[in-house]
Amino acid sequence: MRVGIIGTGMLGAGVGLRMIDSGYKVAAYNRTRSATVDLENAGAAIMDTPRDVAASSDFVIICVTDADAVRSVVFGDDGVAAGAHDGLVVGDMSTIDPDDSRKIADRMHAECGIKMLGVPVMGGPDAAKAGTLVVIADGDKQAYNACSGVLGDISQAVHYVGTNGTAHTIKIAMNLQIASLALSLSEGIEIVRGGDVDPELFLTVLNSTYFGTGMSKKKAHNMVRGEYSPTFLLRNLKKDLGLIMGFIDARKIRLDVAKAIDGAYADAVAAGLGELDYTGIHKHIQSGSPKRA
Ligand SMILES: NC(=O)c1ccc[n+]([C@@H]2O[C@H](COP(=O)([O-])OP(=O)(O)OC[C@H]3O[C@@H](n4cnc5c(N)ncnc54)[C@H](OP(=O)(O)O)[C@@H]3O)[C@@H](O)[C@H]2O)c1
Repeated sequence: MRVGIIGTGMLGAGVGLRMIDSGYKVAAYNRTRSATVDLENAGAAIMDTPRDVAASSDFVIICVTDADAVRSVVFGDDGVAAGAHDGLVVGDMSTIDPDDSRKIADRMHAECGIKMLGVPVMGGPDAAKAGTLVVIADGDKQAYNACSGVLGDISQAVHYVGTNGTAHTIKIAMNLQIASLALSLSEGIEIVRGGDVDPELFLTVLNSTYFGTGMSKKKAHNMVRGEYSPTFLLRNLKKDLGLIMGFIDARKIRLDVAKAIDGAYADAVAAGLGELDYTGIHKHIQSGSPKRA
């Protein structure tokens, strides 16, 4: 199977590198060409347009920021739609609104016969390179069956969850977990610091309990050191919290804590922290307390 990658940012590049390591012939496109250098060096064919990627691939994975970007690379000039051919399947890995995902899938099918799977993931660039993502997949079952081997090569688990829109509904619920964990870890670190206790002691205790998480075992140590080099941008997590806000407003679901979490990340972005890793929410929380050694 020939694989295409459209959007070679942090996650898309990691996915592309894993595909090459797994032996696939990979074609890639990115709006800003400089972000394709690692993939080109690893052996990917770099294309000038999304259309070229689609024309030379059986399965195209799109990994761009938001739904507007997905529409642009699919339906815009020289987009994927223009490169449609028999059997082409598109997997959209970008985290977008479930209703947008459904509408984009319907339009792709109606206008150019392309079957689109939603394939949002849990895990970042390192997990992609190591093939340990978790994929949440939805859409046409036959198209899923055709591409499940590729999805299996980038992941430790693939969950097929149903019709278009289902995977993104679960994905935004997952990202609330990420946002709230990073926030509560940040506040836990500041509680113990405020009591003149070494935050590493807090992490040692936390990580010996039922409540320890991958985040408290890995990224939390960087948070204590004030290191927030990005694998998933804070502004992208805020984007996903915005998706949750739109989703719950449309359905009249009342989630006061999610709203407060969204507000905290919005404030962090407004304070200029959007280009940090999402764990940079700690820097924002810390900025509200007196400076400590
Ligand atoms: N990083 C993670 O850990 C992670 C995990 C799960 C899901 N995600 C989701 O995956 C998606 C990509 O995340 P990322 O971390 O790779 O973000 P990123 O590093 O910021 O990359 C964003 C990508 O989208 C492209 N893009 C943005 N707007 C575009 C447009 N209008 N037209 C064409 N291309 C456009 C960018 O191209 P340029 O280089 O030209 O700007 C770049 O390739 C996001 O939806 C994110 O929420 C990320």
